[in-house]
Amino acid sequence: MNKKHWIVFSILGLFILACKKDIPIKEEIEKFLGFQKPINFPEPEYKFANNPVTKAGFELGRALFYEPRLSRNNTITCGSCHIQSSAFTQHGHDVSHGIEDRLGTRNSPPIMNLAWSKAFMWGGGVYDLDLQPIVPITTHEEMDENLDNVLKKIKAVPKYTAMFKSAFGTEEVTTARFMKALSQFMLMCVSSNSKYDKVMRKEAGVTFTADEQEGYTLFKQKCASCHSEPLFTDGSFRNNGLGISAINDQGFYAATLISTDKYKFKVPSLRNLQYTAPYMHDGRFLSLAGVLEHYNSEVQQTPNLDPLLKQANRLGIALTQNDQVKLTAFLVTLNDPDFINNTLLSEQ
Ligand code: HEC
Ligand code: HEC
Repeated sequence: MNKKHWIVFSILGLFILACKKDIPIKEEIEKFLGFQKPINFPEPEYKFANNPVTKAGFELGRALFYEPRLSRNNTITCGSCHIQSSAFTQHGHDVSHGIEDRLGTRNSPPIMNLAWSKAFMWGGGVYDLDLQPIVPITTHEEMDENLDNVLKKIKAVPKYTAMFKSAFGTEEVTTARFMKALSQFMLMCVSSNSKYDKVMRKEAGVTFTADEQEGYTLFKQKCASCHSEPLFTDGSFRNNGLGISAINDQGFYAATLISTDKYKFKVPSLRNLQYTAPYMHDGRFLSLAGVLEHYNSEVQQTPNLDPLLKQANRLGIALTQNDQVKLTAFLVTLNDPDFINNTLLSEQ
């Protein structure tokens, strides 16, 4: 073997070694471990006893989440509006785009850490994750289908009857099983591997920079009463002072018909903001800078404005330019690339 051959063989050898090393790591990431509560998270709200997450149930849920037969003309999937690379939001759209390009009125929220949610949708109205899919399936602007038809279409596909059998013991395709499987997939969409989480869990070698630490301190003073740790929402409905939109979306009021709920919306999590723009229930802000300026100088006195945003002498939350830089540095630590790249959650 001359020198040239030797070099070629060495490079080939290294390449094979590198590939070999990759395989077990990938398998490790993709191994199905079921639902696991991150150690820095509280106990979940979802009643897992009624719907334990199994590998077969999760896989069925994942297939259904990415299944166009859930829509009237078999074109739209849940994943059309909840795109994994955008932390399961619909990036680039202020309000959602559904069947035949019909426009909704609200921004697609992330499918993320829903095991800890008591109420769903920007304006509430749904209080059980197992019932939520009825809304997108039957909404005119979203999938425009009905559940009977969906179940009929699913039953006709042998792949699905086999999957229902592995997940639930028999081939029977029922509404309850269909909903439970979708929930199992959504419950597994847990984002808990941001830099923030690693710092909180005191993982070796991970610390905040000085800017991030200052931002964290500001965050706890100015934002955490609504966006509370570690989910970055307290799950409540509040009015954060956005100007009333042309369509006059009254938020939580539509669900409760209590006038003190007018213009209140669910406090969203602040995890993965890098991937979820635009922001707010109607996607009115394209950037984080726009959001911070809203809190600093654009809060409007509308009915039921949250008292936390009404100080003695001013509306909103005073944020200097420096505060905004530090807060942004902290918010960036809430991004979780592992979540958007987790192939377990991707269309197979
Ligand atoms: C056309 C786009 C579109 C499609 C298709 C769609 N969604 Fe959504 N989804 C939305 C929008 C918009 C909202 C917010 C609705 C609101 O607040 O009124 C939402 C809200 C949700 C929520 C509540 C999240 C929270 O934090 O409160 C869940 C869960 C959800 N969708 C799951 C699904 C599932 C499951 C499917 C498929 C059966 C689906 N979505 C299909 C756009 C869509
Ligand atoms: C009084 C409670 C409250 C406080 C304090 C508060 N927020 Fe919010 N925040 C909300 C509510 C409610 C919404 C959703 C409003 C809507 O869409 O109508 C929201 C939305 C947001 C969003 C948009 C997220 C998304 O996914 O669309 C960001 C970003 C945000 N807040 C950041 C902050 C920051 C940073 C602070 C501190 C400077 C802060 N908030 C303080 C209640 C609050």
